[in-house]
Amino acid sequence: MTVDKRVALMLIVAAAAGCRAAEGSVIPGASVARGKQSVAGFGCGTCHEIAGVRDAYGRVGPPLTGVATRSIIAGELANTPENMVRWIRDPQAVEPNTAMPNLGVTEQTARDMVAYLYTLR
Ligand code: HEC
Repeated sequence: MTVDKRVALMLIVAAAAGCRAAEGSVIPGASVARGKQSVAGFGCGTCHEIAGVRDAYGRVGPPLTGVATRSIIAGELANTPENMVRWIRDPQAVEPNTAMPNLGVTEQTARDMVAYLYTLR
């Protein structure tokens, strides 16, 4: 590949990354809109208060409104997108006695959910 082509390719990659940032997703390939639908569809709001999600007034778990600004989640994990995906997919693997159930969320759906939850500041 010539240097010119390499530079052009880098610009395309940088532009694509810029698009994702503009869309607000912290996870490549994840969709904020799909994530919001999934959070509503899985009934996360029965246990969590989530501003912007209908009927999400639960008091069993901590409010997810503002979760993006928290430094620690579930009392023990650094708040990174990877850790949040891990937690949502299998809470008991992190905290065996937690009241949060394993809801069988797939990797892609968890990634979408986290992209959405990270918009909650
Ligand atoms: C039966 C109740 C229940 C349901 C349903 C539930 N959670 Fe939770 N969730 C909890 C509890 C309890 C905690 C606190 C766990 C801990 O700190 O050990 C928690 C913690 C969390 C955290 C960490 C928040 C923080 O600030 O510490 C996230 C993120 C989360 N849940 C997301 C979800 C998502 C997304 C769903 C839907 C797929 C969901 N939860 C469904 C009970 C629930």
